[in-house]
This record gives sequence, structure tokens and C-alpha cells, in this order.
Amino acid sequence: MSGLEEARGLVARAERIAVLTGAGVSAESGIPTFRGPGGLWRNFRPEELATPEAFRADPRLVWEWYDWRRGLVAAARPNPAHEALARLEARRPSTVLVTQNVDGLHEAAGSRAVELHGSLWRLRCAGCGDVGPDRTVPLRPLPPRCACGGLRRPDVVWFGEALPEAELGRALDAARACDLMIVAGTSGLVQPAASLAGAAAARGVPVVEVNLEETPGSAGFAVRLRGRAGEILPQLLG
Ligand code: OAD
Repeated sequence: MSGLEEARGLVARAERIAVLTGAGVSAESGIPTFRGPGGLWRNFRPEELATPEAFRADPRLVWEWYDWRRGLVAAARPNPAHEALARLEARRPSTVLVTQNVDGLHEAAGSRAVELHGSLWRLRCAGCGDVGPDRTVPLRPLPPRCACGGLRRPDVVWFGEALPEAELGRALDAARACDLMIVAGTSGLVQPAASLAGAAAARGVPVVEVNLEETPGSAGFAVRLRGRAGEILPQLLG
């Protein structure tokens, strides 16, 4: 039996599926991943830009990167990976889709994803904390300011910051309650998201990994499907 057939059997028998997605799921929509080829912007690593320290030191530089990413995403459409997951959710309402992506492409495909790392499409005032939607592309002037005079920042989670409590709680609940977990397009290097699949696997729950390559967690996963998420997920989920 091939890995794909085995994984399809697991999906057919599962009652509560949890899915964790990462940047690889949006790669086929033309959004660069964080790590690997094409993951750099003007020779900066995401770790150098996605931090509160970087924003304090040079808010304009950090905003230029986010403004560039907002422009890319605004021009992008969900791909067959997002669509297959949205169909799964519609067919099986007990499915919980958790994403590390901040691009909103799961929602655009019709999913109600738990956004663990926030959203590019909300701004938060670093001064008064006010949060609101903003889809303006490009944003000018950079950095944008709040009515209170404070600097607005993307409402995303940066390195060294805590994840939003409600979303993290929903993700942990899903990892504890699922009887199958699918992990797609994530390097599994960023905590605590990366620990969700490990926690499910430690309970004896099968984990199906969809990725171009091996990841640090691969060895603990029941089925490893190598290839593009936009090709494999539609075959896996029907
Ligand atoms: P990464 O860029 O670390 O990893 C992307 C993963 O997707 C890699 O394992 C690739 O092999 C895989 N991949 C690429 N293209 C693919 C495709 N077409 N089909 C399937 N797999 C593919 O992205 P994440 O794991 O999402 O956090 O990164 C996690 C977090 O690190 C991000 O949410 C972000 C980043 O810093 C914050 O900003 C807090």
C-alpha cells in the first residue's frame, strides 16, 4: 500500500481531524516561505525583522518588509491546497484547521482557520493597543500611525512574543482531541506550533505530514507524503 493510500484510509476512518499548516501551503500561491530558497528579503532573515526589537530600532524597515508581503498576498489567490482543506472542513465540521500563516488565504478559500500567528490584515497600535482591520496596499506613510500618535504595527506574533491566548487554547484543545493530525507545509522549527503534532503523536494519534522534504519531526509521524501540498492535499482529501 502506498503512503497516499494509507493516509486516505486514515482520513476515511478519522472522526476528529486537526490540521496544522505553514508557509509551504501558500507557496504555490506565490508567497515565499520563510526558510529555504527565496525566503530572504533584501538579505534580511525573517528572524532579524519579525521582532519587537527590530521594530523599535527601525519601524520603517520592518514595515517595508510587511508592506511588500501584503502586496504579494493581495495579488495572490488560494491554491488547491487551501481549497481541499476548505472542502474537508465543510464536509466534516469537527475538523479544526490551525495555521501559522498570516496571509488570510485559508479564509479566502472559505475556511475558518485558527490563526496562531495573527494576521497581516489587522494593524495594532504599539501605544494604545487598538486593533483594527486594514487592507490598504501599499500602506502610506510608513510606518502608519494611530490617532493616539503611537506607531501601528502588523497584528502578528513576532519572535519572543506570546501567542494569542484564545487561539493557542483552541489549537491545544484540537491537538488533544483529534484522532488524526495532518501537518502540511511547515518546517516544524517554530514553537509552540511545532509541538502540536508531537503532542498528538505522543498520544498515539497518527500524524500525516505533507512536505517537500523531511523535517525534524518527520521520524515520529505515521505517514510522510513528499511533494507539493497543492497536489497532495486534493488527492488525500478528495
Ligand atoms: P518555513 O518557511 O519555516 O517552512 C516552510 C516549509 O514548507 C518547509 O518545510 C518546506 O519544505 C515546505 N514547503 C515549501 N513549499 C511547499 C509546497 N509547495 N508544498 C509542501 N511543502 C512545502 O515556514 P513555517 O514552518 O510556516 O512565524 O514557519 C513557521 C513560522 O516561522 C512562521 O509562521 C513565521 C516564521 O518565522 C512568525 O512570523 C512568528
